[in-house]
Amino acid sequence: MNQLFRRKSLNATIDGGGDGETHSLNKVLSVKDLTFFGIAAIIGGGIFSAIGNACFTGGPAVILLYGMCAVACGFTAMCYAEFASRVPVSGSAYTYAYVSFGEIFAWIIGWALIMEYSIGNIYIAFSWSGYFTNLLETVGLHIPEWLTINYKSAHAAFLETKPGEGFTAWNTAPVIGGLKIIFDLPALLINVFITFLVYRGTKESKNFSNAMVYIKLAVILLVIIVGFTYVDIDNWKPFMPNGFGGVMAGVSAVFYAYIGFDAVSTLAEESKNPQRDLPRGMIYSLVICTVTYIILALVLTGMVSYKQLGVTDPLAEIFAIKGVKWMLFIVSISAVVAMTSVLLVFQMGQPRIWMTMSRDGLMPKKLAKIHPKYKTPGFATILTGFVVGVPIFFTDENLILDFTSIGTLFAFVLVCGGVLMLSPQNEAEMAERKGKFRIPYVNSKFIFPLGFILGVFLAYYFIPNYFFDMFADVVKNIPLISFFIVCAVISVLAFMKNLSLIPILGLISCCYLLTGMSTENWTWFGMWLVLGLIFYFSYGKKHSKLRNVEG
Ligand code: ALA
Repeated sequence: MNQLFRRKSLNATIDGGGDGETHSLNKVLSVKDLTFFGIAAIIGGGIFSAIGNACFTGGPAVILLYGMCAVACGFTAMCYAEFASRVPVSGSAYTYAYVSFGEIFAWIIGWALIMEYSIGNIYIAFSWSGYFTNLLETVGLHIPEWLTINYKSAHAAFLETKPGEGFTAWNTAPVIGGLKIIFDLPALLINVFITFLVYRGTKESKNFSNAMVYIKLAVILLVIIVGFTYVDIDNWKPFMPNGFGGVMAGVSAVFYAYIGFDAVSTLAEESKNPQRDLPRGMIYSLVICTVTYIILALVLTGMVSYKQLGVTDPLAEIFAIKGVKWMLFIVSISAVVAMTSVLLVFQMGQPRIWMTMSRDGLMPKKLAKIHPKYKTPGFATILTGFVVGVPIFFTDENLILDFTSIGTLFAFVLVCGGVLMLSPQNEAEMAERKGKFRIPYVNSKFIFPLGFILGVFLAYYFIPNYFFDMFADVVKNIPLISFFIVCAVISVLAFMKNLSLIPILGLISCCYLLTGMSTENWTWFGMWLVLGLIFYFSYGKKHSKLRNVEG
């Protein structure tokens, strides 16, 4: 049993960076590059597409949600930063869990991160394809529908006799051997292109990514400036048309827009000064994106009534409504650029996590091989290309989006919890870490338990039926009930152990966001974890380097 919770020591983890053979990664990334990688990963499908429905359900008050998610991600980013500065190795949350909770948790996190990185990229590839196809249409190029949609969506559209792209695709697709040929060609091609780029080298990827970030920030600035001239403050009234419940309905979509700052931590071994620059890169990129999102949400909801924003391409839609045709084209181009950069960063992150897991013996050795010429984890990069590419043939985007959010939040919770498990540093260590990032310590002993009691009291005072409703449908509310139990347990631990407040706030705010996931999604997530555990017990546990050390 103890074997499952065996932990890596901090020193061994840091010394283990590099493949232990002749080749290691190229150290070329500065703090500016890391910040740009963060922005490259953060601004994508969330702001170009998911923001529409969040505005529609929440009204102008959606900016509160952007603020809340920013706070949750801000606390989490500080925990990532603390770890990144203590353990500057490529594995991100996986590595952090290994040094704090032990092997089995590390494995679970590594497995959950596949959802964030690879599965998330399937979603982005589909969205990318949608915008790209629209862009080609605006210049008069048409790709047949059966080559621009996935099989599942086309079949569903046919069964529902829903006119549109899917229905046309089903009816016009060629048939070979009795099977209709329907697949999303642009999504596949962008995956092949990105895989090639990441395989070729970090420097090439960096230059490409930096250029894309300049373009997308410039275009978003343009949208804000041009959009501002159309703002009518009457559109901001009513501020919260569907109450707080309406605002909270957009949690997954808004949270999704923030995912990505954590991917910076996978570039530890390619950073020139990871212990100083990784924390900065994560926090700077998050702050820049938060400010951008809140201003953009204000402008969007000020330009037209929130009721008109419930579409998948809201940024294009508002300019179509206002008749500003030239902006439509610019928005479409920048959406394509923005999503390309998101794809790039996540496609870089996944192989680096596998590489780290492989070095620890939890994944096959081949995944840790560094390409002698390009200095990238070549085999793991190609495998990522397959893991993203193959499901493009038989999945659809909606299920995938929920999967990504659950997997990511799960990882965030464990990273915040992991910081609480780290041993406090002695004076010598503190002196050595001068100039490197540290989470400011605020004792949560009284603040957290009292805050929790106050929160429960306020919920009861303002919504007298709140707890009654919660227990009226226990099955549906399992996530919410679990949240209150977690808060109660943490209150006791905070009081007994004088825990640090910031990681607790990160953990609790991410747990709260997790309550927004449906029980069905939890079931799927549970099945995914079971599959991961089967892998672990049949391979990882036996090949773990720690086992060899012990044995
Ligand atoms: N935050 C990234 C996006 O919105 C994942 O596309």
